[in-house]
Amino acid sequence: MDLRIKGDQALVVGASDGIGLATARLLAAEGAAVTVVSRDATALAAKAAEFGATAMPCDATDAAAVDALVAGWDRPLDILVMAVGGSQRSSFEALTDADWQRNWEFNILATVRLVRGFLPALRRAPGARVVLFGAASARMPYAEQIVSNVHKAGHVALVKTLSAELIGEGIRVNAVQPGRTVTRLWTERAAKLAAEEGVAPEAVLARFARDIPLGRFASAEEVADVAGFLCSPRSAYVVGQSIAVDGGITRGLL
Ligand SMILES: NC(=O)c1ccc[n+]([C@@H]2O[C@H](COP(=O)([O-])OP(=O)(O)OC[C@H]3O[C@@H](n4cnc5c(N)ncnc54)[C@H](OP(=O)(O)O)[C@@H]3O)[C@@H](O)[C@H]2O)c1
Repeated sequence: MDLRIKGDQALVVGASDGIGLATARLLAAEGAAVTVVSRDATALAAKAAEFGATAMPCDATDAAAVDALVAGWDRPLDILVMAVGGSQRSSFEALTDADWQRNWEFNILATVRLVRGFLPALRRAPGARVVLFGAASARMPYAEQIVSNVHKAGHVALVKTLSAELIGEGIRVNAVQPGRTVTRLWTERAAKLAAEEGVAPEAVLARFARDIPLGRFASAEEVADVAGFLCSPRSAYVVGQSIAVDGGITRGLL
């Protein structure tokens, strides 16, 4: 399917690795002019060079750095993708106020600041699209993931409310909710659990794969394929949705 995004300006935040990188690669392959953002400037420049993207290093949880990123953007923005977020595995009791606040910045406030900052540039691009990443945990909370369960559930409300507010201006907001996806997030988690349990990381990943009806983790590219569709005018009638790409792991009806 031709995504009809040739020549579009796209900014992908959290794009030196994982799902953000896979999405940036897909948009570039479809002919968009892609700018990628993450913190490690060296890693980002190396990845950007692989597919002809422009690199703009920035910590998305640093309000002043995001202001500088916005100030450095001088053109209409057709596509904004935010792929920064994650979880902190912990029991409820072990989480401090500082943990809750740091994760709030990471999962919600960074997105709020980014979209708000780029609104003027999005308004200058007719039919602009914003694609965010929630998580399947918003539909089926995972044990020991209370902080991201809460924030990713709030993310669904953010997407729905924001999309209703912006669609009248032609800016379309949607989200993808990944299930378990093989990225650094999971390889690091599996390594930590494996060390605690005295088993191989592969055994941890195999155990977590057993809950998934499809029987395996997603690749970053499989999640990016759905994000790419939402970045495209081909999904013009999809508004305010958080779409699960989860191999069937969420068992609820809605
Ligand atoms: N992987 C999964 O199983 C899974 C499941 C559910 C939901 N999700 C969601 O999908 C999204 C992408 O996850 P992922 O697994 O692809 O993540 P990832 O593999 O950990 O990649 C994160 C990317 O974001 C960058 N990044 C991290 N913190 C940043 C910050 N403060 N400012 C700017 N860039 C930052 C990283 O580069 P630097 O470190 O150099 O900044 C890297 O490029 C997240 O919202 C996550 O919650 C993922």
